[in-house]
Amino acid sequence: MAVQHYDDPIRRKVINDFEQRFGAPPSVVVRAPGRVNLIGEHTDYNEGFVLPMAIDRAIWIAARLRQDRSVMCHSLDFGQAVEFSLESVKGHVSDRRSGWHEYLRGIAWVMQQAGYHLRGWEGVVAGDIPVGAGLSSSAALEMATARVFAELSGLAWDPPTMARLGQRAENEWVGVNCGIMDQMISALGKAGHALLIDCRSLETEAVPLPPGTAVVVLDTATRRGLVGSAYNERRAQCEAAARLFRVPALRDVSVEMFALHADKLDELTRRRARHVVTENARTLQAVEAMRQGDAVALGRLMNESHASLRDDFEVSSKELNQMVQCALKEPACYGARMTGAGFGGCAVALVRAGDAYAFAASVAECYRSATGIAPNIYVCAATNGAEVILLS
Ligand code: GLA
Repeated sequence: MAVQHYDDPIRRKVINDFEQRFGAPPSVVVRAPGRVNLIGEHTDYNEGFVLPMAIDRAIWIAARLRQDRSVMCHSLDFGQAVEFSLESVKGHVSDRRSGWHEYLRGIAWVMQQAGYHLRGWEGVVAGDIPVGAGLSSSAALEMATARVFAELSGLAWDPPTMARLGQRAENEWVGVNCGIMDQMISALGKAGHALLIDCRSLETEAVPLPPGTAVVVLDTATRRGLVGSAYNERRAQCEAAARLFRVPALRDVSVEMFALHADKLDELTRRRARHVVTENARTLQAVEAMRQGDAVALGRLMNESHASLRDDFEVSSKELNQMVQCALKEPACYGARMTGAGFGGCAVALVRAGDAYAFAASVAECYRSATGIAPNIYVCAATNGAEVILLS
């Protein structure tokens, strides 16, 4: 059991609220982080490579066992409580309903489907990951919930297994067709590091951030309703391209193989596939750059990734392009790109650490004057994945 000491305002908030509500301290406190992806976008569902880092924004749950096999949890952010019996989430997928509590039900469902014997608990949940911004508050809630169940039910915590279950809960219970990246990084993140994830084998390697750099998340404060359908369409196009190459997934197509056979694909399929094939290659090059501590090379790859997502994969947006342009104007910036599914949400920039806050202020001003929209900007530290926190 990886038990960590930690100080965080949200940690104090869930513990204080728990004590007031239940008249005793919680027996377990967990945190599971959100994430930002440095490079390797729309590659996870092609069984390729991604390089995200877990950020210092997280979901926290304080909890204790109940004897009656039910779960009762208060959300301090939503001002609501959920209560359900573990029996009610066995066997079938109920009607899909949205809301934060469906992630708790979904995890209880999927863990029971996987054969785990779960015990009931009561607790309090809160977090500071902006919801809907593309920073994986859903995956964090899934991994935090799974971690509480594992801890209180006396189950071994195997992060890749739990990430797979979280993905399945999201796909089948919540009905969102995501890949494995978000759950993996929320489960396995490592402080000070990004994580290379092979989305086929689920092997991981922690890669240190280049010395003297900071990662800045640039939220455009725009959200697009069509993300889900566009995401599914891109997945289908990638699968069609893999079939044309007669491989299980685009992961199996090298840049050389692509160049040899690209003329056999129609124009749209060719551009979609070219993004995925080159993005996988860029992600592995980015790992190499990080191993060398080469921020300039990493930044260049991030810029190339953005151009590919914008022109070939077509998942960027006017605001994301504007944000990236504002970031690249700053001398402190090594590189910037849209991050996550796209169409709205966040960009990510790699910048000189000493200039990170000045960079944030200049980019905010540039973006606001170009679009009339006030962005949200977060200078982020890379943190550990889902963990149990000591109460002291
Ligand atoms: C979303 C999904 C991930 C991944 C990214 C794009 O964040 O949840 O699984 O596909 O989009 O890289």
